[in-house]
Amino acid sequence: MLATGSGPSQAGFRPTGDEQPAMDQTRQQRVVVMTGATAGLGAHALQHIASEPGTRVIIGARGGGRSEPRGVEVLPLDLASLASVREFADTVARQLGDARIDVLVLNAGMQTSSTEERSADGYELTFAVNHLAHYLLARRLLPLIADLGRLVITTSETHDPAVTPIAPRTLDPRALAHPSRNGFGAGVRAYAASKLCNLLTAQSFAALDEVKARQITVIAFSPGLTGGTSLGRDSTPARRAFVMFLMNTVFRLVGLFRPEYVMGTAERSGEALAEVSLGVVTPPRGEIYMSLVKGEPTFPVPSELARSRDAQDRLWRESAAMTGID
Ligand SMILES: NC(=O)c1ccc[n+]([C@@H]2O[C@H](COP(=O)([O-])OP(=O)(O)OC[C@H]3O[C@@H](n4cnc5c(N)ncnc54)[C@H](OP(=O)(O)O)[C@@H]3O)[C@@H](O)[C@H]2O)c1
Repeated sequence: MLATGSGPSQAGFRPTGDEQPAMDQTRQQRVVVMTGATAGLGAHALQHIASEPGTRVIIGARGGGRSEPRGVEVLPLDLASLASVREFADTVARQLGDARIDVLVLNAGMQTSSTEERSADGYELTFAVNHLAHYLLARRLLPLIADLGRLVITTSETHDPAVTPIAPRTLDPRALAHPSRNGFGAGVRAYAASKLCNLLTAQSFAALDEVKARQITVIAFSPGLTGGTSLGRDSTPARRAFVMFLMNTVFRLVGLFRPEYVMGTAERSGEALAEVSLGVVTPPRGEIYMSLVKGEPTFPVPSELARSRDAQDRLWRESAAMTGID
């Protein structure tokens, strides 16, 4: 169990000094709704979150046969289909009744080696799953987020050209949705661009009058390079072997000088996601981006493009059109 609110600190958890309990203290039960809780670092986060007393957890998941912690409610959700996202949001609303969401955690993500695959709605799959589906879900569920609640979106340091050369330097949402080229590295570039979209979207939500008025905390969480997850499992065996080779050679070497290249564990990244979700860790006032580096929360300045108000507005507008929101 994590130490939450203003309680005493425990081993393995590192409060930032600006902790805010992620729920209205007058309410009896904390409600957490989460994507990407069935594997990787999200599954570790779920273990922590579900073990918090007085916490109701609803997760969206595709497929079956998984073992979630006792008491966790599992609803069908395939982020590759906007119809599935709408249905999930409607079902959450029905099941909550008068209850409200204290924490919405949008953690699901995928990475593949090409940009050939399309979602059920005809958009490039990585952009559709990582960004569009979560954009739609957050817009549909925002009215259900409690005052003083929390919206956590998992992004990545791969959004930032100062950290990695594959990071995007321009943003064209339509080109991401309908890429015309699919050469070597297209898959990882699409992934990095989708994670930029997560960060831009988080900033747009944080800037909404409604979010400010209701004191909803928005956090874009980057877990950092994390081993032991299944991200990239859809890549070809040859590409996976190449990435493993890079991780064990070049990244280790670069990690001697650049701490962002030191690989963390799914356990620690999941614990950190639980910490930001439950309000154990909160970015300093006015900041929303938290990046885990060598297991420690850091609060770097996002890339210039991620901070661009024009890029944020353009992505918001074009994502609304693609998902059929007014
Ligand atoms: N690992 C890293 O180095 C790293 C670094 C930076 C950021 N991240 C981010 O961290 C998050 C978690 O990644 P991870 O490394 O833990 O990956 P992972 O082990 O592959 O977990 C991905 C999660 O997303 C879910 N998901 C994927 N596609 C989905 C879909 N179409 N519909 C519903 N759920 C779907 C998966 O569900 P299933 O169980 O059904 O597959 C799983 O729960 C992602 O947002 C990723 O971009 C990871």
